Amino acid sequence: QDTWLVHGVLEKWEGKTTEVYSTIPSDDTENPTLLGTIPYMGETEANRALEAAGKAFDKGKGLWPTMKVADRVACMEKFVKQMEKKRDEVVKYLMWEIGKSLPDSQKEFDRTVEYIYDTIEDYKDLDRDSANFKKRDGIYAHIRRGPLGIVLCLGPYNYPLNETFALLIPALIMGNTAIFKPAKHGVLLISPLLEAFKSSFPKGVVNIIYGRGREVAAPIMRSGRVDVLALIGNSSSAVALQDQHPYKNRLRLVLGLEAKNPAIVLPDADLDLTIDECIAGTLSFNGQRCTALKLVYVHEDIAEEFNRRLAERVDALKYGNPWEDGVKLTPLPEPGKPDYIKELITDAKKKGAKILNKKGGKTTFNYIYPAVLYPVTKEMRVYEEEQFGPVVPVIPFKEIDEPINDIADSNYGQQVSLFGKDIRTLAPLIDTLVNLVCRVNLNSSCQRGPDVFPFTGRKDSAVGTLSVHDALRSFSIRTFVASKDT
Ligand code: G3H
Repeated sequence: QDTWLVHGVLEKWEGKTTEVYSTIPSDDTENPTLLGTIPYMGETEANRALEAAGKAFDKGKGLWPTMKVADRVACMEKFVKQMEKKRDEVVKYLMWEIGKSLPDSQKEFDRTVEYIYDTIEDYKDLDRDSANFKKRDGIYAHIRRGPLGIVLCLGPYNYPLNETFALLIPALIMGNTAIFKPAKHGVLLISPLLEAFKSSFPKGVVNIIYGRGREVAAPIMRSGRVDVLALIGNSSSAVALQDQHPYKNRLRLVLGLEAKNPAIVLPDADLDLTIDECIAGTLSFNGQRCTALKLVYVHEDIAEEFNRRLAERVDALKYGNPWEDGVKLTPLPEPGKPDYIKELITDAKKKGAKILNKKGGKTTFNYIYPAVLYPVTKEMRVYEEEQFGPVVPVIPFKEIDEPINDIADSNYGQQVSLFGKDIRTLAPLIDTLVNLVCRVNLNSSCQRGPDVFPFTGRKDSAVGTLSVHDALRSFSIRTFVASKDT
């Protein structure tokens, strides 16, 4: 990999490079597998990307922001058709770079393609919408949606393709120009798509930067020329970048941040189904999902049986390389993650929790087996911190007000999973919970998709809403032409 995309042009890179190593443990532990090298970018390249994006937007006069709907659709269709041909390459990178299992990597790719096609259709509908015409007091208004300007997109390592594109694609189709920074882990998978970017969009519309946030993203923000900061990741990065912008009031934010989604297991819950969903919810992609279940509240009447069965099932999950059949637990891309999870476990044990499963907390290469911790209490770090990794904290409760009050007091407010059968108990609980979070999952684990559904959160979990429909609105502004009725 010796080329990169800046200025919308694929260029030969002659500067310093950064080596990208695989997350998959190598047989030779001294020498991890080198996957490729990429340009080591700094402020100079970041400014070039900014110049290119600014020139392509050209204060709203550029080819891209003024392009007709049908032509912009044609560019996006050209892009997605080329992207589809790169499925196998991108999927391979997802497995080697971030350790995502083969089925999950394929799902991430297919879901992204579907997202692009759905976005194209929704964008066409925006233009067709008859509500775009209004008449009042003799004035006709033709309401449109226009671009905002330059968008800086930053994606996370857990969905380096899908979530980066969930920001980038709607931003582009609405006529904005973009600079995007792929995640630290999951950067090479963009390389099979460079040619598609280059040949589908006008020069300067898409600009890719890579490097340390403070060296590449911060200078772009300091310029004051960014109109939208679109980030999926942690709030400290979002706040740090926001703070760099000299005219914060002009900056639109589209942010998907942390969450601490709980499951509440009521005494009449179907335990087979609940345990299946709790395992998928806490441990899919090793718990590295903002939507993962990060606390499990279980009613004390059923806690013993629930815990025993949950612990057995967790120990039966297969660890291995992403392409192996039936693998559920895979290597972790963040080098410090096993130590961090170990710290959470040690802290919880010191404060009275036990590890319920035999394999819990054991390490293999860069992996730590999920520990089912019980009973977890508010004094423990694992109660407060977003673990974003393989550990399952279980909290007993007697009265339903206990979890409800905890959710109300939490700094986060994304989703909840509620497990139980009696609708007379569930209905009022749902009515309360929807005022505390943004999605209540009944007898199922939390998740973002399908991507046509609104995805957001209260408090520190999100700013703005993502979904095919909402994102088009997040990355645009309503304008109109008014004319007198004559
Ligand atoms: O990391 C947060 C993701 O948006 C989770 O998405 O629920 O589809 O895995 P998911």
